Amino acid sequence: MKVLNIGSMNLDYVYQVDHIVEPGETESSYDMNIFLGGKGINQSMALAKAGAAVYHGGMVGEDGQPFLDACAEYGVDATYIRKIEGKTGHAIIQLDKNAQNCILLYGGANQKLTKEYVDEVLAQFEAGDVLLLQNEVNLLPYIVEQAYAKGMQVALNPSPFNEKLLEVDLNKISIFLLNEVEGGQITGMTDPDEVLEKMREMFPHAKIVLTLGKDGAKYAEGENVFFQPVFKVQAVDTTAAGDTFTGYFLAGLIDGMEIPDILKMSAKASSIAVTRNGAVQSIPLRAEVMEALKEL
Ligand code: RIB
Repeated sequence: MKVLNIGSMNLDYVYQVDHIVEPGETESSYDMNIFLGGKGINQSMALAKAGAAVYHGGMVGEDGQPFLDACAEYGVDATYIRKIEGKTGHAIIQLDKNAQNCILLYGGANQKLTKEYVDEVLAQFEAGDVLLLQNEVNLLPYIVEQAYAKGMQVALNPSPFNEKLLEVDLNKISIFLLNEVEGGQITGMTDPDEVLEKMREMFPHAKIVLTLGKDGAKYAEGENVFFQPVFKVQAVDTTAAGDTFTGYFLAGLIDGMEIPDILKMSAKASSIAVTRNGAVQSIPLRAEVMEALKEL
């Protein structure tokens, strides 16, 4: 079984601020860094750092070489990443003193996928292979249709949630990895337990991973529900915490690990990621996560 992630690559321009700027306000930042990020590549890196073999697909612009270098460094197969004319996607991130952030996206090359490109990449995969997706590239409905028609298992992290997701046939998703806000947007519910219940009702054959921020994470499949609390740490940057969880969770699933162990490993990995700045670079290696779990 092969794993393909068709997803975004963003240069993250991270501004350290006292508070997230208000409408009409001008605020000075006190530090600025450029990190490699994008929900797509963050999740591929988390998969690879967790030990899974993963192919990443997607597009970068002329300034996108650092992503190819990072793939080579961390063992993400970059065969299907295309470098095209124009700019790589980017994100403007304000990071406040409580480690909370807000993110403004510029799609760039992430929004330039073509049907021909998607067909060409999917042709290298077959029934039973896993396709991971987020909502930062164009053509999502088409990609889901084509992958499902081939018999691939489609895992979706519906993030960021926007109207484009309404065009995706969510009945074709085998694994949802989402937070309570996204779950609320899909189900119309607000209480996390009701969100999970409604997701199970709407998608009875799907595996559902619902992350709840400081309240941990829940997993549901059929009648089985598991809960994992968070590991409390002093966070400095929560960017990519969810991506770390997603990549680690999928890696554990592919490994055939027991769900409670996967949840624990994923929660530990994201608790380590939030103690570091940046996205790709903040994601810990599996050995470090396992070592930290031993210390408990
Ligand atoms: O999930 C975090 C990511 O969201 C950042 O790396 C940013 O690029 C946006 O895609």
